Amino acid sequence: MAETSSPFRLDGKTVLISGAGGGIGRSLVAAFRAAGASVFGADREASMLEGLDLAGTVLFDQADAKGTRAAIRSYLDAHGAPDAVVSNAGFTRAETLDQLDDDVWASELAINLSGAYAMTDPIVAAMAARGSGSLIFISSVNALAHYGNPAYAAAKAGLVAYAKAIAVERGGQGVRANVICPGSVRTPAWDHRLAADPSLLDNVLPHYPLGRMVLPIEVANAAVFFASDAASGITGTVLPVDAGLTAGNLVFVDEVLRGK
Ligand SMILES: NC(=O)c1ccc[n+]([C@@H]2O[C@H](COP(=O)([O-])OP(=O)(O)OC[C@H]3O[C@@H](n4cnc5c(N)ncnc54)[C@H](O)[C@@H]3O)[C@@H](O)[C@H]2O)c1
Repeated sequence: MAETSSPFRLDGKTVLISGAGGGIGRSLVAAFRAAGASVFGADREASMLEGLDLAGTVLFDQADAKGTRAAIRSYLDAHGAPDAVVSNAGFTRAETLDQLDDDVWASELAINLSGAYAMTDPIVAAMAARGSGSLIFISSVNALAHYGNPAYAAAKAGLVAYAKAIAVERGGQGVRANVICPGSVRTPAWDHRLAADPSLLDNVLPHYPLGRMVLPIEVANAAVFFASDAASGITGTVLPVDAGLTAGNLVFVDEVLRGK
């Protein structure tokens, strides 16, 4: 069948997706299933994963590195190394420097960076032993320039450094690692902001050259690409999926140069 010979397909491949029950996570599950992959979903609670088309589930709180590592070890004992991992779980509440203290800083670093390391490190080792594997880290435009959420941003920038370390040090064992940096995506992660200010999205859109926010499926499709053989020569890269946000400063062009 022409379909199965496409390098963009993932038939017969397995993928583990963290934060699978979230807004982007649900689209990741759907996109990897549509590409033919068998999908294992990870999240904090089983209830988050209800209704998803999964081959299995892995439960852990990514803020707890030891518990995360233990859950991944059990998963690896039962199923072996997946062909791909999407490290997608993430969380932030501290919007600006004024909302930070040592505890908040430690907590946002623990969930977004240390937990992602604890989850992927045993898998990287198993992939390297097998001689193949692909990791995709869902970072953020916050890793590339300051758009708020400083502790989260530091963690997301840390994921870029970690992915490059895997790319360079494990490339010889056939392991690839790439990073996706989404711009604003309307998911449950925005619920608390919209509850505080229902018109907030009106302030977001003028910053986006495509005139809209990114859709969860657009992030997911980029992850499928990185996991596929179509990206077999690509490792250590950082791909914004951001409707043009990081290409420049549209508000500056509109307000200063076009006089809008
Ligand atoms: N939505 C956006 O605007 C946006 C922009 C850039 C990057 N991102 C990133 O995309 C990824 C997915 O975010 P989303 O928008 O789908 O958010 P979401 O809140 O809908 O989903 C986040 C997922 O991560 C899981 N998670 C959170 N804390 C966890 C913990 N301690 N242990 C285990 N799982 C935990 C949640 O249960 C949920 O399934 C995150 O890494 C986020 O930082 C989102």
